[in-house]
Amino acid sequence: MNMIEINDKEFRKISSLVYDRFGINLTEKKKALVRGRLNKLILSLDFSSFSEYFDYVTKDSSGQKILDMVDKISTNHSYFFREKDHFTYLSETVLPAICNSPRADNDKKIRIWCAGCANGQEAYTLAIVLREFFGDRNSQLKPAILATDISVTALKNAIEGYYTEEGLSGVPKNLQQKYFNMNKDGSGTAKKELKDMILFKRLNFMNQNFPFKNKFDIVFCRNVMIYFDNETKDQLVTKFHRYMLDKSWLFIGHSETLGRSNNDFTYIKPSTYLRVGSVSR
Ligand SMILES: C[S@@+](CC[C@H](N)C(=O)[O-])C[C@H]1O[C@@H](n2cnc3c(N)ncnc32)[C@H](O)[C@@H]1O
Repeated sequence: MNMIEINDKEFRKISSLVYDRFGINLTEKKKALVRGRLNKLILSLDFSSFSEYFDYVTKDSSGQKILDMVDKISTNHSYFFREKDHFTYLSETVLPAICNSPRADNDKKIRIWCAGCANGQEAYTLAIVLREFFGDRNSQLKPAILATDISVTALKNAIEGYYTEEGLSGVPKNLQQKYFNMNKDGSGTAKKELKDMILFKRLNFMNQNFPFKNKFDIVFCRNVMIYFDNETKDQLVTKFHRYMLDKSWLFIGHSETLGRSNNDFTYIKPSTYLRVGSVSR
């Protein structure tokens, strides 16, 4: 395949656009990655330079072309039961605490936001963990998962819920049988009972406000903020605070931190925080 060159100016224009619209921080080191990921798309559109492609994207008033672009640029890598200790902590500590709190009597829903859900593995893992926890429990609480991402392709895959044998390798065999319609080749599709627990929606973290009516008990935003700079990360964490209940849990990726000066969240253990302060900014 032909490789189209990208010069410094073109890279700067594209990286500024992606940063402004999606918060993704494409440093100089990502130049080869951007070139590689956009090349096929640009060739398929019959453009011969990144400048032509940039003009095409920025002149599109529907906003669709820029979504196609971020679709190619964003990293959607994920897998089932990633950073497993979060799920253990969820079922051993967080869910019992919510069930024993006064809220369990007042509100009948546990709301979980899987923020940056990629191809769905994290949201389905959450649904499995919740099903396993609530299975035989005579609970009034109904768990509901909102799973969001900016990538249209990733969301399509997530809604389809189909995973290859390798993709499902993180799911223990007994849970594969229980929660997936399995094929002979080891691949499988998430069963309706899991799908019914999750609402997949497109959402850009850079929006000023999010369209949520109710606040969340738990937010998972893992391996997303590594792509953001500190300013963008702090702004997003402030928004999370706004949409979370007091004393609700925030899980971030193991390689991420909230920063020491954050007064909105108390550190519980690595990559696990409790929202504090009842007033939100
Ligand atoms: C590496 S995946 C993380 C998937 C999953 N949370 C995990 O830990 O396995 C990061 C996801 O963040 C999404 N993302 C990046 N920037 C975003 C933005 N501005 N708004 C919404 N989602 C975004 C990407 O599309 C990608 O699917």
